[in-house]
Amino acid sequence: MVTSGALPALAIVARALSRPGDRIALESPGYSNAIEALRLGGARLVSSPLADPLGETGWDIEGIEATLRQTSPHLAYLIPDFQNPTGFLMDDALRARYAAALGATRTVPIVDETLQPTALSAAPMPAPFAAHAATAITLGSASKLFWAGLRVGWIRAPRELVERILATRMQMDLGTSLFDQLVVADLLQAPDPFASRRDDMRQRRDALAGAVRQHLPDWRFRLPDGGLSLWLQLPHGSATRLAAEAEQRGVHVVPGPVFSVEGGLDHWLRLPYTRPGEQLVEAVRHLAHALGEGGG
Ligand SMILES: Cc1ncc(COP(=O)(O)O)c(C=O)c1O
Repeated sequence: MVTSGALPALAIVARALSRPGDRIALESPGYSNAIEALRLGGARLVSSPLADPLGETGWDIEGIEATLRQTSPHLAYLIPDFQNPTGFLMDDALRARYAAALGATRTVPIVDETLQPTALSAAPMPAPFAAHAATAITLGSASKLFWAGLRVGWIRAPRELVERILATRMQMDLGTSLFDQLVVADLLQAPDPFASRRDDMRQRRDALAGAVRQHLPDWRFRLPDGGLSLWLQLPHGSATRLAAEAEQRGVHVVPGPVFSVEGGLDHWLRLPYTRPGEQLVEAVRHLAHALGEGGG
């Protein structure tokens, strides 16, 4: 089903397949707007903390298995492809094990593939999560592939659920702009639509990483192979205070607690690398000054 973006798609699926008070499992840190959308829908959020965000694995599968066993959530929302905000990519073995754990508690996965096209390396991508989970509902979007102003996303669901999802969607909106859909259909003719931006995005990521290493040398981060941002650990101080100070200087950054399901993470910050390299370097300089003057 075509929707007006992946975020509305999530709201539609959650509303169609759960009732207020049902448990929905999700990753923490996770995509902030999704956390809010699920909360607003009245779900009881059950979070699984990711493993060490500076490590290599991303998901703490044993923790996830334990959480699923203890809470048997109705639905689970996950971002296996360049997780927002950490940029982790879930490998095939982990997908298979995660899917088996979800199957054991009959938890239906809602898999957000919005960032799937943003791979920066030539390494082959793992199979889609749905390859391991027949009940999976997959969300996708044209936002990162082309432009978020084209409000086009989609839901892929088992056939027997589509009617139910459609009936719920009709209570919320009646369709997605045909003009935007035609533009996306045309753009999708290219065999690898992200190809023209891949080198550019890699340079932007590297420009941001280089500027952080130079101006904020004691901040720690892992260089992601895709996604649109770095997830950085501050050595001390509050990311919320720093973000407020940076805002005064025209630099808009989002502090860790916004991505956290139950609060905390105030020593983490997400820096997107979607702007041109010179602007990113300039922004990092402003952040370093803001830090020097009491922000953080
Ligand atoms: C993981 C994830 N899902 C969904 C969205 C929003 O997608 P859309 O613009 O299609 O609503 C974003 C945007 O940043 C995202 O990172």
